[in-house]
Amino acid sequence: MWDKLRSLHEVSADRAITTLFDDAMRSDVFSVEADDLYFDYSKTNIDAETLSALIALADVKNVEARRAAMFSGEKINETEDRAVLHTALRNLDGGPVFVDGEDVMPGVLQTLEQMASFANAVRDGRFTGAGGKITDVVNIGIGGSDLGPAMAVPSLAPFADGPRVHFISNVDGADLADTLATLDPTTTLVLVASKTFTTMETMMNAQSAFNWMKQKVADPAAQFAAISTAMAETAAFGIPAERVFGFSDWVGGRYSMWGPIGLSIMLAIGPDDFKDFLRGGQAMDRHFCEAPLANNMPVALALVGIWHHQICGFGTRAVLPYEQRLVRLPAYLQQLEMESNGKSVSIEGKELDQTVGPIVWGEPGTNGQHAFYQLIHQGKQIVPCEFLVGAQGHESELAAHHKALLANCLAQSEALLLGRDLDTARSMMAAKGFEGAALEANAMQRVFSGNRPSTTLMYKKLTPFVLGQIIALYEHRVFVEGTILGINSYDQWGVELGKELAQKLAPAVEENGSTADLHPATANLVTRAKALRDA
Ligand code: F6P
Repeated sequence: MWDKLRSLHEVSADRAITTLFDDAMRSDVFSVEADDLYFDYSKTNIDAETLSALIALADVKNVEARRAAMFSGEKINETEDRAVLHTALRNLDGGPVFVDGEDVMPGVLQTLEQMASFANAVRDGRFTGAGGKITDVVNIGIGGSDLGPAMAVPSLAPFADGPRVHFISNVDGADLADTLATLDPTTTLVLVASKTFTTMETMMNAQSAFNWMKQKVADPAAQFAAISTAMAETAAFGIPAERVFGFSDWVGGRYSMWGPIGLSIMLAIGPDDFKDFLRGGQAMDRHFCEAPLANNMPVALALVGIWHHQICGFGTRAVLPYEQRLVRLPAYLQQLEMESNGKSVSIEGKELDQTVGPIVWGEPGTNGQHAFYQLIHQGKQIVPCEFLVGAQGHESELAAHHKALLANCLAQSEALLLGRDLDTARSMMAAKGFEGAALEANAMQRVFSGNRPSTTLMYKKLTPFVLGQIIALYEHRVFVEGTILGINSYDQWGVELGKELAQKLAPAVEENGSTADLHPATANLVTRAKALRDA
């Protein structure tokens, strides 16, 4: 199947995508609708034969069987011997879900109610700090214990009617200092979010936040809550059990915002809107499980991804939300996609014979247009672009802004498709009075090759439900790509070596620490940093 796809690529490499639009039905065939989302991939160089081959690939790679295994609680995270059931966290009105013969749904729903009752108490002022009603919440976590809520809270700002929510993740004291500088410890609630409750950055930040609070609050632990799978560690930190929100090891860190890790989102927007977010995720789960492969949105996204990266050899993909509030979506997706699928070894532990996991990057439009779009339009390398846009903004009084935003989004994808040829550029420059060599040189600068692929994910308005759909869509895309490539998308061994070395280096950067056992390149920089520190 891979060979067939490669030969289809050879045939189509020089084909103009625009010619595919000779088929008047192209936009209908190369698009998928699921509840409130519409995904258009007509502006890619995928034709009907290629699409059939891609779907056949998904079929041969047993995507449907592995999907069933995931949803039914089988331990598809083989290297960690764990089930992968973040979908259970949004299974609001679904049936039982079994792990090792036990239905996990009663526990999931009970924890959701525990979160809702705590969130309501904080939001309506029954839970207070030393200084009265909680005005600010600080989520301390990193990676999967930060990025989901840090992306979702600004995304859902129009729904936020609770305390202000802040995020501290980096071990760089600047993150902690700048955030806490704006806050009153007596009216601040701190959530320590860590699946393991051992992550160095989070534990250090939590301790420093505790010390900060102790200066003004007699019982700081009373204004701390914990979100973790490690109950012994949360108790050792001094957080009482009634404010510990637990989850299980079958929820991966970067898939965890649907449960207690999402508590900061719930505090901001309230339990009802948070449940709408879960319902959006659940709707995408249903679509993913029920729609045929040929008309399945996560499968379509994954197949476009495989086509562009594995077959066409495009090394990166840009995520371009025309939605300022999705400003952290690219960062969120970097962890979701690159920590899940940035691997070189198959599930069986064998070296893979092709690259896996494109580099994911991006920035909201229209800002990106005035920054890196130059390369996207005229650079030598092709960057497949994934646009996201809503038909409406929340600011009805600023509808003109939203129309401008929409027009810009559609203009960019059209410019990538159509480009501008040399003759047109020459005519433009001639009309401006250029002649001869100057006309030629100036025309060349204004040529756009076009034929650059993009997709568009469109929705009516960014609501909690729609955000839930979008995030579940990307989660399942990762799963489908990982399954086709034969990798385990749910472990992350690649983050371990750096952590180990940082531990080893910690004593060396102390005042009297020895550099004797360090690699000479590292020893040189440690010595230089110490000299600069002491200068
Ligand atoms: O360093 C990577 C990682 O293990 C992520 O997978 C995880 O989301 C993050 O660290 C935080 O881990 P924890 O929630 O255990 O603090």
